[in-house]
Amino acid sequence: MYTLGIETSCDETACAVLKNGDDILANVISSSLAKHKPFGGVVPEIASRHCLEAIDLVYEEALKRSKVKPNQIDLIAVTRGPGLIGSIFVGVSFAKALSFSLDVPLVGVNHIEAHLEANFIGRKKPSKFIGLIVSGGHTSLVKWRNGRYQLLGETVDDAIGEAYDKVAKILSLGYPGGPVIDQLARQGNPKVFSFTKPKQEGKFDFSFSGIKTAVLNLVEREKPSLRGVPKGRRSNLGLGIASASLESSPRNDRSFVHNLCASFQEAVMGWVVQKTILACEQEKIKSIVVGGGVSANSRLRELLQEQSHIRGFQLFLPSFELTTDNAVMTARLGYVLYRKGERSDLQMAADPSLTIASGPMGRRPRGEGSHGTFKQ
Ligand code: KG4
Ligand code: ZN
Repeated sequence: MYTLGIETSCDETACAVLKNGDDILANVISSSLAKHKPFGGVVPEIASRHCLEAIDLVYEEALKRSKVKPNQIDLIAVTRGPGLIGSIFVGVSFAKALSFSLDVPLVGVNHIEAHLEANFIGRKKPSKFIGLIVSGGHTSLVKWRNGRYQLLGETVDDAIGEAYDKVAKILSLGYPGGPVIDQLARQGNPKVFSFTKPKQEGKFDFSFSGIKTAVLNLVEREKPSLRGVPKGRRSNLGLGIASASLESSPRNDRSFVHNLCASFQEAVMGWVVQKTILACEQEKIKSIVVGGGVSANSRLRELLQEQSHIRGFQLFLPSFELTTDNAVMTARLGYVLYRKGERSDLQMAADPSLTIASGPMGRRPRGEGSHGTFKQ
């Protein structure tokens, strides 16, 4: 059975072909990331225009690489939310038109659920697990049991990836901030700066805006020059070649940035891992499944591996190529849902606020993270 996956929830336009839910025949992604860099965050209008321009080329490329002909497609799976409405519309409209013209069934999927499902390609899905979703728009802990998700906690302000992006902006390190901070943190001492752990009402809720403000205050107090870098240098840093540009900075500026990145990363990843373990202990669940762009983070992966090893937990981390937004995960989730009998029709709506699970109070996700306007 051939499933075509279509994913356009944010700045990526992706199509993938999956054979029988486990065999990846094509995984094509066209990103508009470079177009957003000068703005320090994703600009929704630029993202959706890119999706519109790229979708048919990406679709044709996926078919070419998979050697699957349009009339061989058995199922179309498409992201219907959450994300940027303009971008999602492009994918959903394309998928509906294709489903109608090829007379092939259609299944709309939740992007966040798809991030978690990516872990089960070629691996058996556990009957219950704690899911950790860490991306530019979401930070949530969910429980999967008896075939359904329940929200345990989520961020009360910024998403974790958004916090990385904002700290990188404070340090003039460019966008996206996660990969650069992760790289620079490896050269620093995580014990140089300490940050107060935020307290939330919900045991499994997160907060990252306090640490972002603490970083901002620290930089303004100790290294204001890093914020006021001359225009030429700032644009260099802003185009994602931060480490190269830092080489020409004074040595104490460099070590300040390295130590700050290391201390920031150690603090936020420590909090995230601690809550994930606590959720496993409270729910008596021994499997952890991680998804979202921030799951590429080296320290997060290391800490989760260490803790899972000590406690005998089973850990599911996505392969690096599946940490970022892709349509393989969409195709996989669509395939699984289709086999359970799920079908969507041409009335299916794009839903930018689609939730993975309802919480104790049926909460909706907060804010738009770095999917929306970039505030600091
Ligand atoms: O899931 P994703 O590709 O897009 C959505 O937000 O849906 O996640 C993008 C986020 C960005 O905020 C980026 O800075 C962050 O993932 N990110 C990382 C790393 N790689 C990407 N954050 C920390 N460490 C990384 N290695
Ligand atoms: Zn995502």
